[in-house]
Amino acid sequence: MDRDKARARVAELREQIRDADYRYYALNDPNLTDTQYDELYRELVALETEHPELLDPASPTQRVPDVIAEGFEPFTHPSPMVSLDNVTTEEELRGWVERGDRFLQSDDPRRYSVEPKIDGAGLELIYEGGVLVTASTRGNGLVGADITNNARTIRAIPQRLRGDKVPEWIAVRGEAYMRKDDFAAFNKAAEEAGQQTFANPRNFTSGSLQMLDPKVPASRPIRYFAYAIGGVRGVSYGSQEDLLDALRDMGLPTVPETRIVDGADAVAEHYAYLVENREAIPYEIDGVVVKVDDFALQERMGMRTRSPRWAVAWKFAAQRAITTLKRVDWSVGRTGVVTPKAVLEPVFVAGVTVSNATLHNIDELERLGLREGDRVEIERAGDVIPKVLRPLEDRRTGDETEIEVPTHCPVCATELDRDEGKVAIRCPNFACPKQLEGHLAHFASRLALDIRGLGEKQIRQLLENKLVTDAADLFTLAKDDLAALERWGEKSAQNLLDQLEAAKTVPLDRLLYGLGIREVGERGAKILARAFGTLEDVAAATEERLVELDEVGETMARAVMDWFSEDRNRDMLRRMAEAGMAPSRIEVASGGVFHGMTVVLTGKLERMSRKEGKALVEAQGGRAGSSVSKRTDLVVAGPGAGSKRKKAEELEVEIIDEAEFLRRAGRD
Ligand code: IVH
Repeated sequence: MDRDKARARVAELREQIRDADYRYYALNDPNLTDTQYDELYRELVALETEHPELLDPASPTQRVPDVIAEGFEPFTHPSPMVSLDNVTTEEELRGWVERGDRFLQSDDPRRYSVEPKIDGAGLELIYEGGVLVTASTRGNGLVGADITNNARTIRAIPQRLRGDKVPEWIAVRGEAYMRKDDFAAFNKAAEEAGQQTFANPRNFTSGSLQMLDPKVPASRPIRYFAYAIGGVRGVSYGSQEDLLDALRDMGLPTVPETRIVDGADAVAEHYAYLVENREAIPYEIDGVVVKVDDFALQERMGMRTRSPRWAVAWKFAAQRAITTLKRVDWSVGRTGVVTPKAVLEPVFVAGVTVSNATLHNIDELERLGLREGDRVEIERAGDVIPKVLRPLEDRRTGDETEIEVPTHCPVCATELDRDEGKVAIRCPNFACPKQLEGHLAHFASRLALDIRGLGEKQIRQLLENKLVTDAADLFTLAKDDLAALERWGEKSAQNLLDQLEAAKTVPLDRLLYGLGIREVGERGAKILARAFGTLEDVAAATEERLVELDEVGETMARAVMDWFSEDRNRDMLRRMAEAGMAPSRIEVASGGVFHGMTVVLTGKLERMSRKEGKALVEAQGGRAGSSVSKRTDLVVAGPGAGSKRKKAEELEVEIIDEAEFLRRAGRD
């Protein structure tokens, strides 16, 4: 590339990287994937190396971005939190190994720690005398944000280190992350409550840790893995293997899929294993970190400008493809939110044929600037729904057409609302068939009224035959009408009626949840039910009284007020009451078979989800714990239960199986 071209390209790359840094670090809303970012960064490094005259101290390659979320104190790390060089192919990895050989003037196979590269948020924990004193984000590597209060809410992070080998002082480094299943469940609940959903577990984790109110991270399933130290006093470690063992012994979780291996072949083997098993691993990983195991060798190899010579990140190849955006479809959810979905020319990516991709919301759609007919780059990461990364603007032919954001509901044609300042567009028509279907499905779902035998198919039949117009109508269904439906009959009709009869005394929180009030998820419903006791009192609550409640913000208070002030909702509740709906008070301080107990669920549950299990514990007055300790009263162990079960045995905590659990909870 000639000088002028290089100069122009360098300027462009710097601008793109600065913009990406800002969005990533300050706005917490990345516009590039890590791989895209790395590509730009590498191209810039390459150009700057080739044209040293273009080097500039202000280039993003010369410094790491430094932005600290507003409202937090800066914290200077005891030693820099460096970043790692990347390789993307086995050949490059072997190149890194050979550079190590040359540096150490020895080609004896070295021992390596091969660790999944956790796609979370880096977090440093400082313990003095075994007590957690500071937790900080990585920031620019030298100075991060002090988020101690938020980190204290993460149960995987011990407040006090355990055992008899606790150093006087230690700076533990690791990653805060969220499990994929927890993330999916959280997003699903948020969606059901009509709240904002998140793009991926990493953004969600780092966003949660940078909230000024620690109640936010406290209510989110954030976890932690430790994998390095930034200094220690009073104890020393000989190798990464020793260190990881010591961290584990002190009560810090370490990455279970880490392997200590000898030589490059074995590194490649464990890498291949992790690629192969990426989907089954419960948290997101975006590569593998390879570290020279021996600390004496690490010391000898030392640092380059930005990164150590003794470690490298071997990133997974992007799972991307180019295809055509055929059109954008709009679907209506239970709460009336209308969301865009990309319909694609089918394309094979990372082992599956992809023909749909998520566009998240209209903001995302507008940000991407997509047009129908565009060639687009899509990415499929792990088991998440594929997403559209960008249109290939230089491939446009002129035949592409603007995407029209609907102004009217695609199902019932009612004019849509676009909430000011919110990313959602919403169909306000409560009687919209799609909404009704979602409303009834939610009402009947397991965490709500748990009406078995009322699945999607049956609901559609009821709607098509105009037997119901809302949830209240369910309670006045006539047996003959039901029995006359296709594929029904006396028996299934009677079954449904029995189920509905039983549902009339459902605990109040589950009814409240089932009503599908915006912003009121499972937890919100519980808070309301506990605070007010009866449906009438919830309905009569004032906004002032609502916001006084712990964990109820203005948005939720408003949503509750709005819902109860709608005539059709009041009418629905009146008809439910007339039909005999009499929700039971939820057990508060007393009662419940697990009253006052901490119950830990581990292993596979076969008859319910983890979330339902926890709900059951709470419904019976207990607290669902996530790790086993002396304070644990009961462990429910399913097949595959491992370390928690062992721990419970050691501590002689009572262990029961799922069937016994259900029996005690009165669900069998
Ligand atoms: S070690 C000198 N180990 O990847 C070693 N980092 O650039 C410093 N990461 O942002 C890091 N998993 O937050 C290390 N097992 C692991 C890791 C890991 C994820 C992150 C870390 C940092 C980046 C490395």
